[in-house]
Amino acid sequence: MPVLSIAGAGTDIGKTYVAAALLRALARRGLAIDALKPVASGVDEADYTGSDPAMLLEALGQPVTAETVAHIAPLRFAAPLSPPLAAKREGRVLAFSDVRDLCQTRTTEVGDAILLVETAGGVMSPLDDDHTMLDLMAALSGPVVLVSGSYLGAISHTLTALACLRARGLQVAAVAVSESSGEAPFDETVAALARLAGDVPLVAFRRDASPESSADDLAARLAALF
Ligand SMILES: Nc1ncnc2c1ncn2[C@@H]1O[C@H](COP(=O)(O)OP(=O)(O)OP(=O)(O)O)[C@@H](O)[C@H]1O
Ligand SMILES: [Mg+2]
Repeated sequence: MPVLSIAGAGTDIGKTYVAAALLRALARRGLAIDALKPVASGVDEADYTGSDPAMLLEALGQPVTAETVAHIAPLRFAAPLSPPLAAKREGRVLAFSDVRDLCQTRTTEVGDAILLVETAGGVMSPLDDDHTMLDLMAALSGPVVLVSGSYLGAISHTLTALACLRARGLQVAAVAVSESSGEAPFDETVAALARLAGDVPLVAFRRDASPESSADDLAARLAALF
């Protein structure tokens, strides 16, 4: 019952893009996999197209139905806000202990399969009034893939997120640098991160290339963990 958390140096940075490619790559290696997006905001219940649950389900080769979406993303909110704020908009309360428990239950249910858990937002985005995604990853205690970007400012955001994960004792198995849209120089950003990030594998996901070979590289680097 290994758990792999997908963390973000920020929101909208490429977590789902990398996670979906990684799920396909792990499947190509013959590994049993499952995925969970325990808390998802900005979900349109009338049209799941392009949503995180839909992308993860498609990567798992599963149909996108109300049932499968409810299974892979049990706590969904309509507003595109941080989960606790999105929950409040609907008169609901999001509790860290509920999210932690549902992740742990799913971990047991999947048996020997690798459970990929996509967190919401950035490493310290709020989960409830008193907890952040970092607390959830610490409770799950498995290795983490940190997804970062290449926009101006991304180097500092990535290094800060990395320091934060390490300070909490989490094993950062790899940093996936997902190329941001815009003009920032991707290769130089990746090179700077490689010099500054310390002893962690970096895998680049370029926009002008399909993600398969990067995801295969990432899966190979994770293979020793599972
Ligand atoms: N390397 C890349 N190449 C091409 N498109 C990318 C890449 N990285 C991210 N994207 C695109 O950028 C958008 C945001 O990425 P994604 O949805 O994966 O971010 P996220 O971190 O999962 O966001 P959220 O915080 O909402 O969960 C998506 O449309 C995605 O397809
Ligand atoms: Mg996402």
